[in-house]
Amino acid sequence: PEAIMVSELANRMSERVADVVKALMQNGIMATQTQTIDADTAELIIEEFGHKVVRVSDADVEQVIDTVEDKAGDLKPRPPVITIMGHVDHGKTSILDAIRNARVVQGEAGGITQHIGAYQVTTESGSTLTFLDTPGHAAFTSMRARGAQVTDVVVLVVAADDAVMPQTVEAINHAKAAKVPMIVAINKCDKPAANPDKVRTDLLQHEVIVEKLSGDVQDVEVSATTGKGLDDLLEAIALQAEVLELTANPDRAAEGAVIEAQLDVGRGPVATVLVQRGTLKQGDIFVVGEQWGKVRAMENDQGKRVKEAGPSVPVEVLGLNGTPEAGDVLNVVETEAQAREIAEYRANAAKEKRAAAGAATTLEQLMAKA
Ligand code: GTP
Ligand code: MG
Repeated sequence: PEAIMVSELANRMSERVADVVKALMQNGIMATQTQTIDADTAELIIEEFGHKVVRVSDADVEQVIDTVEDKAGDLKPRPPVITIMGHVDHGKTSILDAIRNARVVQGEAGGITQHIGAYQVTTESGSTLTFLDTPGHAAFTSMRARGAQVTDVVVLVVAADDAVMPQTVEAINHAKAAKVPMIVAINKCDKPAANPDKVRTDLLQHEVIVEKLSGDVQDVEVSATTGKGLDDLLEAIALQAEVLELTANPDRAAEGAVIEAQLDVGRGPVATVLVQRGTLKQGDIFVVGEQWGKVRAMENDQGKRVKEAGPSVPVEVLGLNGTPEAGDVLNVVETEAQAREIAEYRANAAKEKRAAAGAATTLEQLMAKA
């Protein structure tokens, strides 16, 4: 049975604790502020104070958030979401920059300024690809741990003048654990010391068998510096995506994942959200992790205002009441009251969990001392 501490109840109603204790007493219940009362009693008191009762449980959250599976007929093709991974200095950022500069329409003087940690490009053959810029390995791991699967394809960058390094292996393990297909980009092929075949044989030791060695992992020789092979890389990704037959239902309440978020001095909390299904629209009310909000404005990867964003589209969202965390899931709900209730419920649950964890540690420490 659910219960609530008297002080917490007072807090949530924004009433004085003494008044709540008094009201309880008038109903024949003797309770101090640190004692808990059951949900039915709490409901009685809440109504007496003229507040509206909204009981929230995990099941309620499930109900409010539209988790219904999409019917096959409602699914439409969506662009793949690609994460670039690899060892330090092997050229991840350079490859992303080179792709963006070659593929994104040139803006005004000064060229491209990147607005958000994700962007979309269109290949020569007309496929749209969504690249995630941010997730370093730590972010990728924490997002995966929180159940946010955002990547469809991993591009593993290995420098041809170096070799398979510790973070290369880590990236391979991440991709395998997430069951995400991988494409190997052998970078820095412009360098005199480049030895792409060494990279290919190195990878064998980690059970990555590239096509050139008769395996099924696509491998592409590239140079971020000269631009060589980048179009081939994009086509390899598009081909891989085709095999995956990625789909989503664009016509439902939007669900997405936070790629990054920060508190902006001028604009308040800002989150880059990758829409994963449904279509996020201006004015939508949403809950995201322990925060909630109403979409005040959205900007796409080129800093342009957009009114809506469909599956696999990354957008910057304004209108949050607080800053969510990378990996938090965003769900559109119907009313502000629902959004606020769910956010508060989650925040409280997290607080209780932390308190419990803290208490356990203290107990352990006491036991250790004894
Ligand atoms: P971290 O973000 O630190 O993990 O590195 P990264 O993988 O993003 O590598 P980055 O793109 O920063 O490149 C590292 C260095 O390699 C830079 O000095 C780049 O100029 C250089 N570099 C990247 N790609 C190429 C390439 O294709 N050819 C040559 N010659 N140099 C490259
Ligand atoms: Mg980098």
